[in-house]
Amino acid sequence: MTREHTTVAVRPATAADAPTMARLHADGISEGFLPSLGPAFLTRLYRRILRTPHAFAFVAGDADAVVGFVAGANDIAALYRSFLIRDGVPAAMSAAPRIVRSLPRVIETLRYPSRPDLPGLPDAEILAVAVARQFHGQGHGRALVDTAVREFERRGVSAIKVVAAADNPAAQALYRSAGFVDEHELRVHAEVASIAYVRPARTGVGA
Ligand SMILES: CC(C)(COP(=O)(O)OP(=O)(O)OC[C@H]1O[C@@H](n2cnc3c(N)ncnc32)[C@H](O)[C@@H]1OP(=O)(O)O)[C@@H](O)C(=O)NCCC(=O)NCCS
Repeated sequence: MTREHTTVAVRPATAADAPTMARLHADGISEGFLPSLGPAFLTRLYRRILRTPHAFAFVAGDADAVVGFVAGANDIAALYRSFLIRDGVPAAMSAAPRIVRSLPRVIETLRYPSRPDLPGLPDAEILAVAVARQFHGQGHGRALVDTAVREFERRGVSAIKVVAAADNPAAQALYRSAGFVDEHELRVHAEVASIAYVRPARTGVGA
């Protein structure tokens, strides 16, 4: 089906966008345990993503109304290390009882990028993309993912992965439409089937 996409404005996220990104994440992405750690934890994570050279984020909309975001990391292990070293204690304090409840899932998530049963997947990863429900189906998701792909290319990354729950047809359609192909079925958490998608990138574009 050919759809008419409205013009979508996408810009780099700033620290002021972090609470909105946290809210869009919590509202839109029920899979995974991150939303259960609370808005303060998610806001801190997105602030770190915006500060570290290992990651980036873009938002769709304007300064008054951000309607979606995408976050990516060219080196996810380095991002997690930087988050743990610089934000670990305050982040843990902001979500302490919830982290204790979710500890096995926290560990599964931190471990999964280096799991030996997942060989050959690129380091670079789209971490999250979400659009406010009332703006779905207007091309925001695709514009955000295309912008993230261009940013990875600018950073010299040669391939990008993204992991989506197997029962999330909107995410699957979005990633396939943006040139990602199904690569690998995996379980980051034992009870949830996920699919890793991979897309080659043209290195050095826009550098
Ligand atoms: C996934 C999500 C970001 C898509 O955003 P969106 O702005 O509605 O997507 P777009 O309008 O840009 O559509 C992109 C493509 O996906 C397709 N698509 C979007 N939603 C779809 C759905 N529910 N079912 C089937 N296809 C869908 C569109 O038809 C379009 O394909 P095309 O480019 O070939 O025409 C949005 O549904 C969302 O925020 N979901 C909750 C958060 C989430 O699950 N994020 C992914 C996991 S991190």
